Amino acid sequence: MTEETAMHDHGRQIRMDLNESPVAIDDSSAALLADVLRTANRYPRGVLQRRLTHVIAQRNGCAPENVVLGAGSVSLLEAVWSCTVDPGDPVVFAEPGFEMYPWLTVRRGGTPMSVPLAPGFRTDLKQIRHLVRTARPALVAITNPHNPSGTRCPDAELTSFLAEVRTDTVVVVDEAYVDFDERADLAASAAAAVDAPNVVLTRTLSKAHGLAGLRIGYAIAHADLARRLAASTLPFAVTDVACAAASAAMDTVDDKVARIRAMRASLTEQLRDLGLEVPDSAANFVLVVGHHDLADRLADRGVLVSRSPLGVRITIGHEQGGDRVVEGVREYCAARHGSSKENQPTGRQ
Ligand SMILES: Cc1ncc(COP(=O)(O)O)c(C=O)c1O
Repeated sequence: MTEETAMHDHGRQIRMDLNESPVAIDDSSAALLADVLRTANRYPRGVLQRRLTHVIAQRNGCAPENVVLGAGSVSLLEAVWSCTVDPGDPVVFAEPGFEMYPWLTVRRGGTPMSVPLAPGFRTDLKQIRHLVRTARPALVAITNPHNPSGTRCPDAELTSFLAEVRTDTVVVVDEAYVDFDERADLAASAAAAVDAPNVVLTRTLSKAHGLAGLRIGYAIAHADLARRLAASTLPFAVTDVACAAASAAMDTVDDKVARIRAMRASLTEQLRDLGLEVPDSAANFVLVVGHHDLADRLADRGVLVSRSPLGVRITIGHEQGGDRVVEGVREYCAARHGSSKENQPTGRQ
């Protein structure tokens, strides 16, 4: 696997802030895409879109009618919001969380109702369930695994939550990071969405599949809800190049994911050994709880990480970047340790 050599947009800085894959597209996929690019003078004809829809349906044990493609999963989230939220409607989601949810809610004139995370930095399904009963939201958004904490919802808890929600509330389960979750059963969550009239799954090929720049994602839902969603997306939004790349990437994703999981385990252990609190992550990033100034120290070393109200979120996958993070954190901890010693009372008058 080839790591990008040019850190194109930020000079020599290594981007570990956007949860992208640092692995550049391989030569054989690039050659295949070059052929498709030669037809870029034409609008997408729908052939590659239908083929990809079939592949996704087959992999998830559902019918093509249950699958909707989008230009990245954000475009599908936008479609979910536009076909469910009217002005004044409450929308429930965890806070802190993916910043698109409050943004889309406000844009639709809805009322954001955020729910703080439960202990352990988990989505508080109990509290969300309570709000569903009392506030009757039009939409609930659950990120599983969660961003920015990386924690997953326990399967049984999520299943019973989805089964209980009244059907006039739509639940979108945003599985942008699900490929990195070794405990996830992708076909089972797809089946749960297909069987319910009011549950939509969204997934992306921007993360594990390394296609963030091509904008491709998909939703899985009951056929009626999938039709409503499809009606809210723009025509020709999903390009032939994105579809061809997605089909190819699905064949190689397992190796990429295995590498990220191994790097995640190693970085988590090293950070914990240095005394930092790092929740178990099921995603391609880890959260260092607190220590907000650590982001600046890592930036000094040429590594960009993401700042969150919970702490510092570090994307996994860049080998050299991972080493620099560990060195930077070691130096940061030593400096803190030194200064706290200096401030300790000496007992002398
Ligand atoms: C929780 C979550 N959902 C969706 C997305 C968007 O992904 P896409 O690139 O498919 O639009 C992201 C991207 O960071 C994300 O963190």
